Amino acid sequence: MSNLTLTINQQDYEFDNLDPRTTLLDVCRHHLHITGPKKGCDHGQCGACTMLINGRRINSCLTLAVMHDGDEITTIEGIGMPESLSELQQAFKDHDAFQCGYCTPGQICSATALIEEVKQQWSSHVTTDLQNPNGLLVQEIAERMSGNICRCSAYPNIIRAISQVLEKQVSNSSSVSDNAPNDKATDVTISGIWSPPPSEAQIGNQSIIKPTDYASNAANAQGERS
Ligand code: FES
Ligand code: FES
Repeated sequence: MSNLTLTINQQDYEFDNLDPRTTLLDVCRHHLHITGPKKGCDHGQCGACTMLINGRRINSCLTLAVMHDGDEITTIEGIGMPESLSELQQAFKDHDAFQCGYCTPGQICSATALIEEVKQQWSSHVTTDLQNPNGLLVQEIAERMSGNICRCSAYPNIIRAISQVLEKQVSNSSSVSDNAPNDKATDVTISGIWSPPPSEAQIGNQSIIKPTDYASNAANAQGERS
């Protein structure tokens, strides 16, 4: 049995005799009744349990609570509540980026960390120019969000919500302005699913989704799924 202090959403919780086999997800949901993080698969496959640990996203079903004594843990409740939504949460509402909502806390936690990764110019598996990564590419967003599955397939609207906040928050960074949307940008079809990652052909387009493209892309995505 273990004694530890967890700092979750800026509040300290003391534990005496916690079973060291308890996952961080179970501590939140079962011990503390912090139920924003969801248990989908409990195997690290779906991302519904995503939380932020010191600003980085993690599947909380795959990590033990005892490993996080002293860490800053943030769940969806710490990102924003109904009366104080974060910009990304508001964007998810505005773009209708959910249906049942079960995956949404994990999606928003993951996307919150994604935006910080882009600001820091971290590359991803589909980044073709490591010196000049462009997080605004639809393919980049899809790849970086590939650990979060949506059984309702709300992917097109999730991408729109993330794109809107990304464009706003990183539009002044040099890496993005170097690759800002231009007349040569070609349309990207959002397939409606982001796993497996986009094809080489899609990545080769190096296209950036533009607000004016949203309607046509949505129509394309709907057509492909039907
Ligand atoms: S519940 Fe943790 S990844 Fe699915
Ligand atoms: S909105 Fe239902 S699982 Fe994503």
